[in-house]
Amino acid sequence: MKFLLLNGTLKKDSELSNTFTLCQMVKAGFEALGHECEMVTLSEMEYERSTDDVKDDLQPVIQKMFTVDGLIFATPIWWGGHSSYIQTIIERMDFIETFGFEKDYKPFYGKVFGTVVSGGGDGFQHIHGVNYNFATMLGFTVPPQCNIESATQGRDKILKDDETIGMVKTFVSNMSAWAKALKDGEVHKFARHTTKAELKESINEGKRIPRKKGQKRKSKKHSDLYTDEDPKGTIHGLGFKDEATARSSVAKIRKSGRSHAHKIQAAVAMEQRARAAGKSGPAAIYRKFINSMKKKTKAKNKKK
Ligand SMILES: Cc1cc2nc3c(=O)[nH]c(=O)nc-3n(C[C@H](O)[C@H](O)[C@H](O)COP(=O)(O)O)c2cc1C
Repeated sequence: MKFLLLNGTLKKDSELSNTFTLCQMVKAGFEALGHECEMVTLSEMEYERSTDDVKDDLQPVIQKMFTVDGLIFATPIWWGGHSSYIQTIIERMDFIETFGFEKDYKPFYGKVFGTVVSGGGDGFQHIHGVNYNFATMLGFTVPPQCNIESATQGRDKILKDDETIGMVKTFVSNMSAWAKALKDGEVHKFARHTTKAELKESINEGKRIPRKKGQKRKSKKHSDLYTDEDPKGTIHGLGFKDEATARSSVAKIRKSGRSHAHKIQAAVAMEQRARAAGKSGPAAIYRKFINSMKKKTKAKNKKK
């Protein structure tokens, strides 16, 4: 696993910075677990305050965020808030949020986020909260206890402080464990990448609404996919045991002559069955087909 750690201290002399000391402990913790952790000290770079994707020292750092498994912000507490370096990073990442919204794509799904805060004693929770809110809006996942709050002052004392050491150990373990789980579970593939409309359709997509007594067979008030309430409409021979079966099933759905909506529903039902059986490969094949059909739906609706 690879992690990117942004050190937001305002102190130029790193030996005197408590935040820098915490960053070094976190980096050493990840490395002890066999992971990579790159630390970037923001005060050493020249960059603009902007909400655009500006070509300067910060651009390659932001680009790196797309390639790592986890991102960490480290900051001192300054009058109850995080440092201006961290605030500038938040602002500079704004274009990613805009891009994600416009393109229906959250590039940070499947990646973890954590905060490292050094202070004298008050304001930790506010800083974690503000940063977590920002990070989850961009698509990051915040694992439990990935918030270091160290009130110890002075490098030598911090390095020996049991409470801080314990928090660092939990932090690096949980960041790594959750990053691995998200990666293995391919959550970026299955999660919903938009907050736009069509919500009703997506939430209800493939959900079974059983036919009640007295309802007509083809009534839109119930779904007929799970129980073959309309056997005549069934597309036969669909499966999900492996990717080849899923591919030939998609071909069968395509050639079935059923309506556009029916084809999507059939594929959604199969995708869900595949997923429930732990067959992520076949599920992804069905999902690809569903997404291509949905693009067609969108294009059709635009023409109207
Ligand atoms: C002007 C000033 C304001 C501060 N405000 C807070 C604060 O609101 N809450 C807190 O817990 N610590 C506060 N501190 C303490 C610093 O956050 C703490 O010393 C931190 O370890 C500094 O990190 P650094 O060595 O990386 O600069 C403040 C310190 C200064 C000098």
